[in-house]
Amino acid sequence: MVTAMATVTGVPSRRSRAMLFFHSSVSFKEMDFRTDVHSHILPGVDDGFRHADNSVQALERMHEAGLEHSILTPHIFPELYPANDPAGIRARFGELSARFSGTGVSCRIAGEHMVYNGIEDEFSNAADDGLLSMPGRHFLIEMSYAYESQNIREFIFRLNINGLHPILAHPERYSFYSSALDEIRSIADMDTGLQLNILSLGGFYGKTAMLKAEKMLENGMYSYLGTDLHSLSQLESLFSLKISRKHVAAVEKLLQNNDSLWSASEREPSE
Ligand SMILES: [Fe+2]
Repeated sequence: MVTAMATVTGVPSRRSRAMLFFHSSVSFKEMDFRTDVHSHILPGVDDGFRHADNSVQALERMHEAGLEHSILTPHIFPELYPANDPAGIRARFGELSARFSGTGVSCRIAGEHMVYNGIEDEFSNAADDGLLSMPGRHFLIEMSYAYESQNIREFIFRLNINGLHPILAHPERYSFYSSALDEIRSIADMDTGLQLNILSLGGFYGKTAMLKAEKMLENGMYSYLGTDLHSLSQLESLFSLKISRKHVAAVEKLLQNNDSLWSASEREPSE
Protein backbone atom coordinates (compact mmCIF):
# COMPACT_ATOMS: atom_id res chain seq x y z
CA MET A 1 0.00 0.00 0.00
CA VAL A 2 1.28 3.45 -0.89
CA THR A 3 0.69 5.86 1.92
CA ALA A 4 0.34 9.59 1.67
CA MET A 5 3.83 9.83 3.13
CA ALA A 6 5.67 8.13 0.28
CA THR A 7 5.96 8.40 -3.47
CA VAL A 8 5.05 5.49 -5.72
CA THR A 9 8.78 4.70 -6.08
CA GLY A 10 9.08 4.05 -2.36
CA VAL A 11 11.48 6.98 -1.95
CA PRO A 12 10.37 9.20 0.91
CA SER A 13 8.89 12.45 -0.34
CA ARG A 14 10.15 15.81 0.85
CA ARG A 15 7.11 16.00 3.09
CA SER A 16 7.79 12.60 4.62
CA ARG A 17 11.43 13.52 5.24
CA ALA A 18 10.24 16.67 6.95
CA MET A 19 7.84 14.61 9.04
CA LEU A 20 10.66 12.26 10.01
CA PHE A 21 12.70 15.23 11.12
CA PHE A 22 10.00 16.30 13.54
CA HIS A 23 9.39 12.84 14.96
CA SER A 24 11.01 12.18 18.33
CA SER A 25 12.47 8.92 17.04
CA VAL A 26 13.48 7.21 13.82
CA SER A 27 13.03 3.57 12.92
CA PHE A 28 16.43 1.88 12.79
CA LYS A 29 15.14 -0.08 9.79
CA GLU A 30 14.90 3.19 7.85
CA MET A 31 18.53 4.15 8.53
CA ASP A 32 21.46 3.42 6.18
CA PHE A 33 22.47 0.17 7.79
CA ARG A 34 24.67 -1.33 5.08
CA THR A 35 27.30 -3.20 7.12
CA ASP A 36 26.90 -5.42 10.17
CA VAL A 37 30.12 -6.22 12.04
CA HIS A 38 28.84 -8.69 14.64
CA SER A 39 26.37 -11.55 14.37
CA HIS A 40 25.84 -15.22 15.10
CA ILE A 41 24.21 -15.98 11.77
CA LEU A 42 26.64 -18.79 10.88
CA PRO A 43 24.37 -21.67 11.93
CA GLY A 44 25.05 -24.62 14.16
CA VAL A 45 28.32 -23.49 15.69
CA ASP A 46 27.36 -21.59 18.87
CA ASP A 47 24.30 -20.24 20.72
CA GLY A 48 23.16 -18.32 17.65
CA PHE A 49 21.24 -19.49 14.62
CA ARG A 50 20.74 -23.25 14.44
CA HIS A 51 19.41 -23.82 10.95
CA ALA A 52 20.83 -22.55 7.67
CA ASP A 53 17.34 -21.78 6.31
CA ASN A 54 16.77 -19.29 9.12
CA SER A 55 20.20 -17.74 8.56
CA VAL A 56 19.41 -17.27 4.88
CA GLN A 57 16.02 -15.82 5.70
CA ALA A 58 17.59 -13.34 8.13
CA LEU A 59 20.11 -12.19 5.53
CA GLU A 60 17.42 -11.88 2.86
CA ARG A 61 15.22 -9.76 5.08
CA MET A 62 18.11 -7.57 6.16
CA HIS A 63 19.12 -7.15 2.52
CA GLU A 64 15.59 -5.98 1.72
CA ALA A 65 16.10 -3.37 4.44
CA GLY A 66 19.39 -2.25 2.89
CA LEU A 67 22.13 -4.47 4.32
CA GLU A 68 24.96 -5.14 1.84
CA HIS A 69 27.79 -6.55 3.96
CA SER A 70 27.93 -8.73 7.03
CA ILE A 71 30.84 -9.96 9.11
CA LEU A 72 29.77 -13.19 10.78
CA THR A 73 31.37 -13.58 14.20
CA PRO A 74 30.75 -16.92 15.94
CA HIS A 75 31.91 -17.29 19.53
CA ILE A 76 35.48 -18.53 19.84
CA PHE A 77 35.79 -20.05 23.30
CA PRO A 78 37.30 -23.54 23.56
CA GLU A 79 35.69 -24.30 26.93
CA LEU A 80 32.15 -23.90 25.54
CA TYR A 81 32.69 -24.49 21.81
CA PRO A 82 35.68 -26.81 21.39
CA ALA A 83 35.04 -27.30 17.66
CA ASN A 84 35.24 -23.58 16.95
CA ASP A 85 38.79 -23.26 15.78
CA PRO A 86 39.65 -21.21 12.68
CA ALA A 87 39.77 -24.26 10.38
CA GLY A 88 36.40 -25.57 11.57
CA ILE A 89 34.70 -22.19 11.34
CA ARG A 90 36.11 -21.54 7.87
CA ALA A 91 34.96 -24.97 6.71
CA ARG A 92 31.41 -24.34 7.96
CA PHE A 93 31.38 -20.93 6.30
CA GLY A 94 32.63 -22.50 3.07
CA GLU A 95 29.69 -24.93 3.07
CA LEU A 96 27.21 -22.07 3.18
CA SER A 97 28.92 -19.16 1.45
CA ALA A 98 27.12 -19.75 -1.87
CA ARG A 99 23.72 -19.70 -0.16
CA PHE A 100 24.70 -16.59 1.77
CA SER A 101 25.86 -14.85 -1.41
CA GLY A 102 22.48 -15.65 -2.98
CA THR A 103 20.79 -13.44 -0.41
CA GLY A 104 22.47 -10.35 -1.87
CA VAL A 105 24.54 -9.77 1.28
CA SER A 106 28.31 -10.19 0.94
CA CYS A 107 29.47 -12.13 3.98
CA ARG A 108 32.85 -12.57 5.55
CA ILE A 109 33.87 -14.74 8.47
CA ALA A 110 35.64 -13.59 11.63
CA GLY A 111 35.28 -14.50 15.29
CA GLU A 112 34.13 -13.07 18.61
CA HIS A 113 36.94 -14.11 20.91
CA MET A 114 36.27 -14.69 24.59
CA VAL A 115 39.23 -13.45 26.63
CA TYR A 116 39.87 -16.41 28.93
CA ASN A 117 42.82 -17.35 31.12
CA GLY A 118 45.51 -18.73 28.86
CA ILE A 119 44.34 -17.21 25.59
CA GLU A 120 47.70 -15.48 25.27
CA ASP A 121 49.48 -18.84 24.94
CA GLU A 122 47.22 -20.09 22.18
CA PHE A 123 47.30 -16.75 20.47
CA SER A 124 51.08 -16.55 20.42
CA ASN A 125 51.25 -19.92 18.65
CA ALA A 126 48.82 -18.89 15.91
CA ALA A 127 50.06 -17.77 12.53
CA ASP A 128 48.21 -14.85 10.93
CA ASP A 129 46.16 -17.18 8.74
CA GLY A 130 45.12 -19.04 11.88
CA LEU A 131 43.28 -16.01 13.23
CA LEU A 132 39.64 -15.17 12.67
CA SER A 133 40.31 -11.46 12.46
CA MET A 134 38.14 -8.80 10.89
CA PRO A 135 39.11 -6.60 7.94
CA GLY A 136 42.04 -4.26 8.54
CA ARG A 137 43.48 -6.60 11.22
CA HIS A 138 40.69 -5.73 13.63
CA PHE A 139 40.03 -8.36 16.26
CA LEU A 140 36.70 -8.71 18.09
CA ILE A 141 36.91 -9.68 21.77
CA GLU A 142 34.40 -10.19 24.55
CA MET A 143 34.26 -11.06 28.23
CA SER A 144 31.85 -12.87 30.51
CA TYR A 145 28.89 -10.69 31.53
CA ALA A 146 29.49 -11.64 35.16
CA TYR A 147 33.12 -10.75 35.77
CA GLU A 148 36.03 -9.01 34.14
CA SER A 149 38.65 -11.18 32.45
CA GLN A 150 41.73 -10.98 34.68
CA ASN A 151 44.01 -10.71 31.68
CA ILE A 152 41.96 -8.31 29.56
CA ARG A 153 44.57 -5.56 29.59
CA GLU A 154 47.50 -7.89 29.03
CA PHE A 155 45.70 -9.50 26.10
CA ILE A 156 44.85 -6.15 24.54
CA PHE A 157 48.50 -5.19 24.89
CA ARG A 158 49.47 -8.47 23.19
CA LEU A 159 47.10 -7.73 20.31
CA ASN A 160 48.50 -4.24 19.96
CA ILE A 161 52.13 -5.34 19.77
CA ASN A 162 51.13 -7.92 17.14
CA GLY A 163 49.70 -5.17 14.96
CA LEU A 164 46.09 -6.13 15.58
CA HIS A 165 43.38 -3.64 16.49
CA PRO A 166 41.11 -4.91 19.25
CA ILE A 167 37.40 -4.13 19.29
CA LEU A 168 35.57 -4.85 22.54
CA ALA A 169 32.04 -6.12 21.91
CA HIS A 170 29.05 -4.62 23.77
CA PRO A 171 30.86 -2.90 26.70
CA GLU A 172 27.49 -1.55 27.88
CA ARG A 173 26.50 -5.10 28.84
CA TYR A 174 29.34 -5.69 31.32
CA SER A 175 27.58 -5.21 34.64
CA PHE A 176 30.84 -5.19 36.59
CA TYR A 177 31.82 -1.88 35.03
CA SER A 178 30.42 1.18 36.74
CA SER A 179 28.07 3.62 35.09
CA ALA A 180 30.77 6.25 35.56
CA LEU A 181 32.43 4.45 32.62
CA ASP A 182 35.96 5.00 33.95
CA GLU A 183 37.01 1.36 33.47
CA ILE A 184 35.61 1.25 29.96
CA ARG A 185 37.41 4.47 29.13
CA SER A 186 40.68 3.01 30.37
CA ILE A 187 40.23 0.08 27.98
CA ALA A 188 39.34 2.35 25.08
CA ASP A 189 42.51 4.29 25.84
CA MET A 190 44.50 1.14 24.98
CA ASP A 191 43.74 1.65 21.28
CA THR A 192 40.65 -0.48 21.61
CA GLY A 193 37.51 0.21 19.63
CA LEU A 194 34.18 -0.20 21.38
CA GLN A 195 31.23 -1.82 19.62
CA LEU A 196 27.66 -0.97 20.56
CA ASN A 197 25.00 -3.66 20.41
CA ILE A 198 22.31 -1.62 18.70
CA LEU A 199 19.52 -3.45 20.54
CA SER A 200 20.92 -2.06 23.80
CA LEU A 201 19.38 1.28 22.84
CA GLY A 202 15.94 -0.35 22.85
CA GLY A 203 16.38 -1.82 26.34
CA PHE A 204 16.73 -5.34 24.95
CA TYR A 205 19.37 -6.23 27.56
CA GLY A 206 17.79 -4.29 30.42
CA LYS A 207 17.65 -0.74 31.66
CA THR A 208 21.18 -0.52 33.05
CA ALA A 209 22.74 -1.58 29.75
CA MET A 210 20.46 0.84 27.91
CA LEU A 211 21.40 3.80 30.10
CA LYS A 212 25.11 2.99 29.78
CA ALA A 213 24.77 2.66 26.02
CA GLU A 214 23.05 6.04 25.77
CA LYS A 215 25.72 7.68 27.91
CA MET A 216 28.56 6.12 25.92
CA LEU A 217 26.92 7.12 22.66
CA GLU A 218 26.43 10.69 23.86
CA ASN A 219 30.09 10.79 24.93
CA GLY A 220 31.34 9.58 21.56
CA MET A 221 32.92 6.46 23.04
CA TYR A 222 31.80 3.92 20.44
CA SER A 223 33.53 3.18 17.16
CA TYR A 224 31.14 0.61 15.62
CA LEU A 225 27.74 -0.94 16.05
CA GLY A 226 26.57 -4.49 15.55
CA THR A 227 23.37 -6.47 15.77
CA ASP A 228 24.88 -9.43 17.67
CA LEU A 229 21.97 -11.22 16.01
CA HIS A 230 21.31 -14.72 17.40
CA SER A 231 17.85 -15.56 16.03
CA LEU A 232 14.93 -14.52 13.85
CA SER A 233 13.06 -13.32 16.92
CA GLN A 234 15.89 -10.85 17.60
CA LEU A 235 15.49 -9.69 14.00
CA GLU A 236 11.91 -8.71 14.82
CA SER A 237 13.24 -6.64 17.73
CA LEU A 238 15.80 -5.05 15.40
CA PHE A 239 13.15 -4.14 12.84
CA SER A 240 10.93 -2.57 15.49
CA LEU A 241 13.79 -0.65 17.14
CA LYS A 242 13.38 3.10 17.38
CA ILE A 243 16.35 5.43 17.70
CA SER A 244 15.78 8.60 19.67
CA ARG A 245 16.15 11.71 17.53
CA LYS A 246 18.95 12.96 19.79
CA HIS A 247 20.99 9.81 19.06
CA VAL A 248 20.46 9.60 15.31
CA ALA A 249 23.57 11.55 14.27
CA ALA A 250 25.81 9.46 16.55
CA VAL A 251 24.31 6.21 15.23
CA GLU A 252 24.76 7.40 11.65
CA LYS A 253 28.44 8.01 12.37
CA LEU A 254 28.83 4.44 13.62
CA LEU A 255 27.09 3.14 10.50
CA GLN A 256 29.65 5.00 8.40
CA ASN A 257 32.48 3.54 10.49
CA ASN A 258 31.05 0.06 9.87
CA ASP A 259 31.19 0.72 6.12
CA SER A 260 34.82 1.84 6.44
CA LEU A 261 35.71 -1.29 8.38
CA TRP A 262 34.23 -3.46 5.63
CA SER A 263 36.02 -1.52 2.90
CA ALA A 264 39.34 -2.52 4.46
CA SER A 265 38.50 -6.07 3.29
CA GLU A 266 38.66 -4.97 -0.33
CA ARG A 267 42.41 -4.64 0.02
CA GLU A 268 42.77 -8.10 1.49
CA PRO A 269 42.35 -11.63 0.09
CA SER A 270 38.78 -12.85 0.58
CA GLU A 271 38.03 -15.63 3.04
FE1 LIG B 1 28.13 -11.86 20.05
